[in-house]
Amino acid sequence: MANNKESFGSKFGIIAAAAGSAIGLGNIYRFPCEAGANGGGAFFIVYLAIVLLMGLPLMVSEFVIGRRSGKNPVGAFKTLAPEQKGWSGIGYMGVVCAFLILAFYCTVAGWTIDAVGKSIINYYHGLDNATIQKDFDSLMNETWQPILSEGIFIFLTALIIVKGVTKGIEKYSKILMPILLGILIILGIKSLTLPGAKAGIEFFLKPDFSKITGTVLINALGQAFFSLSLGMGCLITYGSYIAKKDNLTSTAFMVCISDTLIAILAGIVIFPAAFSFGIKPEAGDSLAFVTLPMLFNQMAGGYFFCLIFFLLLTIAALTSSISLLEVAVLFITEELKIDRKKATIYSAIGAFLLCIIASQSLHDGTPLKIFGFRIFDALDEFTSTILMTVGGLLTVVFLGWKMKKSDFMEEYTNGGTVSMGLRKIMYFIIRYLSPVAITVILITQFIK
Ligand code: TRP
Repeated sequence: MANNKESFGSKFGIIAAAAGSAIGLGNIYRFPCEAGANGGGAFFIVYLAIVLLMGLPLMVSEFVIGRRSGKNPVGAFKTLAPEQKGWSGIGYMGVVCAFLILAFYCTVAGWTIDAVGKSIINYYHGLDNATIQKDFDSLMNETWQPILSEGIFIFLTALIIVKGVTKGIEKYSKILMPILLGILIILGIKSLTLPGAKAGIEFFLKPDFSKITGTVLINALGQAFFSLSLGMGCLITYGSYIAKKDNLTSTAFMVCISDTLIAILAGIVIFPAAFSFGIKPEAGDSLAFVTLPMLFNQMAGGYFFCLIFFLLLTIAALTSSISLLEVAVLFITEELKIDRKKATIYSAIGAFLLCIIASQSLHDGTPLKIFGFRIFDALDEFTSTILMTVGGLLTVVFLGWKMKKSDFMEEYTNGGTVSMGLRKIMYFIIRYLSPVAITVILITQFIK
């Protein structure tokens, strides 16, 4: 089975695809949100350590499982542990997780599309901070506007998958994402030169170790997994398309580096500007969506930058959402034997319905709450701090304790053809360090 499956044409292809999945709203919207709410510098330093020590090894693990089995996450565990069907639970959890993340993700993508529309008509021009904030709040309270923009977004996601042009999109994103990077650098420079910017950069980068709590740890872990698209089978799915000759470590490394670079840049853009405009780092959803239009307002060529930026952000979000929907689609086609087009339509409709509930839960005084959380926030919290972390934990445990070491080594070193000095350290981290560290963090979140 694994052999007749298409694989990515080149190593660069898989890096572009996996980086396309990783880089998205998680970097530009969610990372600053989480850093702002969790003490800035303290969060940042923990985040970097987690990406290196847990994110990278888990990414390698998912690639190994995906490529070894050549299957979707459910099929992958069934293939690799045929006598212990229970492991495929990780895959089922991933499929459920994909829908829950999509619901929340498409809501935020809807705001991005809304911002594209507003950029086109130069709506933000001359508006002050309070007006942009009020406007964002009223968008949260609308009914049809968010439904329309998230509908457009899900439709585009499904269209790309049905048309089978995913690779085409990724080809363009190889050119477009460097442009996004370039714009972020320009924005960063502008942001750093605003009056009062220094306080923002200090907040973001200067670690205050006394602020590291259980909550900071779990949120950093959740954010790292979210941003790197880990813990729910997404990269197992992509791993199943990686060619046997590609080097898994360097691929994973490149993806982690580019994803983290974009997140750091987003922080450098947002915090100095937010401090300069008097927007609080704990502002949450509006941190990115109010600060950025304000920043564009201050710039020469702001109209142009604003439009290009939100367009590129929409594309970055699309290359992430296709990776999420793909998890569901590949599961439905391979396990339930339903054709690809139908599978895509069904799962897109499912995600859309959930997304409507999520976005409507943002109305003031909403009854759409679970355990006191608005459904939108509950989906976000539950997936990143529980489902994905537990999924990640089980994945490394599977690789370290269930799969034969020789099988891991063979897959990891491409049948011994790439010499991998790191392989023993990597195996040690996957077998011992990651499981222990993730478990400890999962527990400490309950000790405030
Ligand atoms: N990583 C993407 C982002 O940062 C979102 C995403 C895509 C994702 N696929 C995922 C998150 C799988 C978790 C799991 O925007």
